[in-house]
Amino acid sequence: MGKKIFSGVQPTGNLHLGNYLGAIKNFVDLNNDNDNKCIFCVVDLHAITIKQDPKELKNNIRETVATFIASGIDPKKSIIFNQSGVAAHAEGAWILSCIARMGWLNRMTQFKEKAGKDKEKASIGLYSYPVLMASDILLYDATHVPVGDDQKQHLELCRDIAQKFNNDFEVENFLQVPEPLIQKEFSRIMSLKDGSKKMSKSELSDLSRINLTDDKDQIINKIKKAKTDPLSMPKDIKELDKRLEAKNLLGIYSSLTNSKLQNSVTNFAGKNFSEFKEKLSEELVNKIEPISNEIKKLLGDERYLDKILLDGVEKANLIASKKIERIKEIVGF
Ligand code: TYM
Repeated sequence: MGKKIFSGVQPTGNLHLGNYLGAIKNFVDLNNDNDNKCIFCVVDLHAITIKQDPKELKNNIRETVATFIASGIDPKKSIIFNQSGVAAHAEGAWILSCIARMGWLNRMTQFKEKAGKDKEKASIGLYSYPVLMASDILLYDATHVPVGDDQKQHLELCRDIAQKFNNDFEVENFLQVPEPLIQKEFSRIMSLKDGSKKMSKSELSDLSRINLTDDKDQIINKIKKAKTDPLSMPKDIKELDKRLEAKNLLGIYSSLTNSKLQNSVTNFAGKNFSEFKEKLSEELVNKIEPISNEIKKLLGDERYLDKILLDGVEKANLIASKKIERIKEIVGF
């Protein structure tokens, strides 16, 4: 049986290799399987949980759509739309925020990381953001949600919310409890400057990540400067637990070449990092340069990108508005 796929990406600029290998690459494979019905959302409501410049936000929304298409998602096969275009997402989030418990949200590690030391000054939206994410998923009866490892906890929360809603209102299986689709290996790509930190768009140093809009020279330069350790390449996969930078780079290489981590370790065992880095750069340039060029080309055609979003919003609205009406009936409105 085909899957109903839903996933989202925040339009906050600097989409990077982590987003690609952790999520978007998977979106493309799912989109290519004709049995699946896929919906990919540019989650602009999520983006404003942290202050955004309105002009930049608009550009970033278009850039996210361009990235989806440049990576290989076909807008004729999958629905691509922006979240703020479909009112049901915000309506659903409110209703579900009356189902979710404070205790559940207090456990969310991403809020703690993002809010940092000054929790009192974080927006309420940043705190309740996983409930909006649950609304996104549940409105479309998604059976599977492809995400990187950092979203796992939010998906577990979504499952808890769905189950509690179904129990509270005695509507068995009304909200579909979704399964996460998280790759077993390489679901968390780390910073090129620190193998213990996630690659992230908010990291200050641009050298910490490969952006999907980087050109060939930038990619080669960033890999050259990527942190390693003074030893030669690991000979045994067990060494990787203590050699986080080597682990990350080998993981990226394996993911790009669709090979097992063990095979990559064997291939480069005992060699110099510089030799490995050359091969890694080659694979990265082969994969990312065409995407980067295509994104830049697509960004020159704003009307095309806006039309994709408009069509997507129309299609998404047809599905989500029906579901929210049923939710409201069930609640008693
Ligand atoms: P966002 O925009 O932070 O990231 C988009 C996707 O990229 C993955 N990702 C990574 N994967 C591996 N390594 C990394 N370093 C890395 N960094 C990011 C994320 O896991 C994600 O899959 N809340 C979500 C967006 C969202 C959503 C949804 C996702 C909103 N509604 C409904 C699924 C379903 C977010 O902020 O992702």
